Amino acid sequence: MKGVILAGGTGSRLYPLTRVTNKHLLPVGRYPMIYHPIMRLRRAGVTEIVLVTSPEHMGDVVNLLGSGSRLGVDLTYRVQDEPGGIAQALALCETFVGDDPFVVVLGDNVLGEDFDKDVIAFREQTAKGPGARVLLKEVRDPERYGVPEFENGRIVRVIEKPSDPPSSFSVIGIYFYDSSVFEHIRTLTPSQRGELEITDVSNAYADRGLLTHGTLTNWWGDAGTFEGLEEANSLARDLIYEEIGLGEGT
Ligand code: DAU
Repeated sequence: MKGVILAGGTGSRLYPLTRVTNKHLLPVGRYPMIYHPIMRLRRAGVTEIVLVTSPEHMGDVVNLLGSGSRLGVDLTYRVQDEPGGIAQALALCETFVGDDPFVVVLGDNVLGEDFDKDVIAFREQTAKGPGARVLLKEVRDPERYGVPEFENGRIVRVIEKPSDPPSSFSVIGIYFYDSSVFEHIRTLTPSQRGELEITDVSNAYADRGLLTHGTLTNWWGDAGTFEGLEEANSLARDLIYEEIGLGEGT
């Protein structure tokens, strides 16, 4: 399975920390933020990865990661010229992904556990037909995230940052899609905040009963806000990926 990491956007909620550097290069625990999604993908057996970022920061990101070989992955890069939303960034990966099911990780998501079992579950799901899968985490403040609404244990829709959340779960920034997702993205229109929303993409599957889910049991952090960054930093403080240690295998 191939992987996509989305690390574009403006990082405006972290100004002035992100005035001269990309959000995904800020420290989370012992590593730059972007190492966390890369290492979780590697641990799930996903080593062929495309990384999307903005033109302003592509140079710094490539300086840090290069070909990916030091982290045990094979990186390809795509530039998102304008921050038109997560789904717009994903659309840039169509030719890289090809016809196979794949996994998307948002570059500011930091996890305290691996998701290899979801890779297996999604492979089994898509062997039977089209579909998508999201990962959930129970949170205190669901209104900050995409929130699933359930009927009989199945997600019937996801609502982006609802003022009245239908459940106490967040749809975290790890999404599994089949390649028909790119057809769905072409039909999207920008939301009120002017972005092509990943939640609308997942709803294209939920509408047809094709959206499955897994649930995290360990900690999870969205480091895209100052509070989130602070929390992710403390959660990941003692996290060391043994495969690379702290010297990245050098
Ligand atoms: O972290 C989970 C949440 O992520 C989900 O619960 C929400 O449903 C989902 O919309 C998203 O919400 P955020 O408000 O946290 O998204 P944010 O704008 O912070 O973007 C998350 C990542 O996506 C960011 O680290 C980089 C990437 N991105 C974002 C935008 C807007 C891009 O690559 N390009 C973009 O244009």
